[in-house]
Parts: sequence; C-alpha cells; structure tokens
Amino acid sequence: MIVVKLVPIADTSRELGGEFYGRLEAGDVLYFERSPIELPREDTEFLLSQRQAGSSYYKNIAYRPAEDRVTGLDPGGDGERMRRILKSYCDQTAGLLSKLLARYSNGWRVDFTSFRPFEEAGRALALHARNDLLHVDAFPTRPTDGDRILRFFTNLNPARPRVWMTAEAFPELAGRYAEEGGIVRLARQRAGPAGRVTAKFARALGLRQFTASPYDAAMHRFHNFLKENTEFQEKAKKARTEFPPGSSWIVFTDMLSHAVLSGQFALEQTFIIPYRAQQRPELAPVKILEKLAGRPLTWRE
Ligand SMILES: [Fe+2]
Repeated sequence: MIVVKLVPIADTSRELGGEFYGRLEAGDVLYFERSPIELPREDTEFLLSQRQAGSSYYKNIAYRPAEDRVTGLDPGGDGERMRRILKSYCDQTAGLLSKLLARYSNGWRVDFTSFRPFEEAGRALALHARNDLLHVDAFPTRPTDGDRILRFFTNLNPARPRVWMTAEAFPELAGRYAEEGGIVRLARQRAGPAGRVTAKFARALGLRQFTASPYDAAMHRFHNFLKENTEFQEKAKKARTEFPPGSSWIVFTDMLSHAVLSGQFALEQTFIIPYRAQQRPELAPVKILEKLAGRPLTWRE
C-alpha cells in the first residue's frame, strides 16, 4: 500500500482540473519540482543567514497577514525586512493558489505565513509540539469550526532535502482510533446541550479555550492522541519522502498524517478553506467525525 502520493504539477498558468482537487482532498500531495514562487536572491540569502537563539516559546517565525506583523523573531533581528519578505511570500502564494485552486479561494482565510529556520532533526520540543511524530494538524488557538487546513511549503535549503514521513489519511485513522482514543466521546459531549451552554457562557465571558467547537476540541485531542500513541508511531504504514532544495508542495495537513524528520529553512503559507468549497465536502474530517458521532460538531447554524 502506498501511503503518500506525489502529484507533479507542471503547468501553473491556469486552474487545475477536477482530478487534482480530488486527489488533494483525499490526502495526496501536489508537488512542484521547482517552486513556482520566486524569491529575490538577496531575500533568500537573508533568510538563510538567520540563526535564531532557539527560543522555546515560538516554534517558528510567523507573519500574521491580518495584523501585518511578525512574531517569534529574536530581539535584535531585522523585523521590518522579515515582515516584508514573509508578506511577499504570502501575497505570491495567495495569488498562485487563487489561480491554481480557484474554487477554494472564494471565502478562504489567508492564515499565517511561517519561516522555519531550525534544523528539524533532534529539536528539543515538548511531546505535543514535536514535528517528528506523526500527526494531523489542529490549531488549538485558531479553531476552524470544520474548515480545512491547506498548506503550501517551499524548501529553501540550497543543499539538503526536507524529509517527511507520512502515514495514512484521516478517514482511515479516524476509523481505527476515534472510538478507542475517546475522540468520538469527547465530540458527543461537547456537542450535547451542556457543552453548548458552556460554550455560550465562555464566549460571553471571553474564555477562548472553552469556546472551541466540538470539532476543534476533537481534532486537538486526536492530534495529541496520535503523538502519544507509541504503537501507532512505530507500526503505522509509513512512507519517507524527500522534498529537494527549491521544491514546493501543497497538502491538506489536517488530512494526511505527517512528520518532519529533518531539514532546515522552509517557508510555509497556511490557508483555511471552507469545507463546503471542496469538490468532495464529504471527505472533510468534520463530516467523517460527524458520521461517527451521529450529530453536528460545528457551531454553524
Ligand atoms: Fe503538522
């Protein structure tokens, strides 16, 4: 069984055909051997010269488009230059994807841009923050209420690949672990009358951690469950993929389970895609979890 499929994209001049949407939504990776995003050479050199002190609070340097500001940079770093470079990557990837994946851009949210200057192999991070353990993405501080996490990556390293391990996609994993891991039980509880009342009060009081939708709570639990599960980490059917220097790739990271084994210097742009914009909305993790839980799991009407 093949657990990762790279779908090469050569023509970036127009919208991709329906089969590409289908494959992306099923957990395949759209792959560009040579990144279609061009950074001026001096900007790449600036990024490659970044040596962070290894701050443990921030996992990455991030650009927040809605606020037009950068977080995670060491004090003394050239924040203005970093902001300009990351904003340009953000604008360029948004421009590219609004053409290639046009059906997603209606109602999408252009989320954070991140620059990852650390060597991923051997990073000392807390268990749930580790990138080298297989997981599906969930953002506890930026709930999506059922919408999708689509990410565009570029390996900036001039010499070394970025190495990923991938395993199965969300539908298979949820089918196997969502009951055992207590994910379905949690989702049902949060979606029940008591959960709804708690969330309503929490919203009124501004207690953000209790306002996440049942879907978001379940996805966060699932993310942690997979990272904690040694048997899954060891025995999952895995594939190792090397993304060479200068390549880019696109993947729904809430769908395909993945881990980063090694690599340094990558750029990444996140988009939150309305799940209803998908070609096959029934493949969205929220739809799969709702089927298992037997009730709606978002706060939408
Ligand atoms: Fe991830």
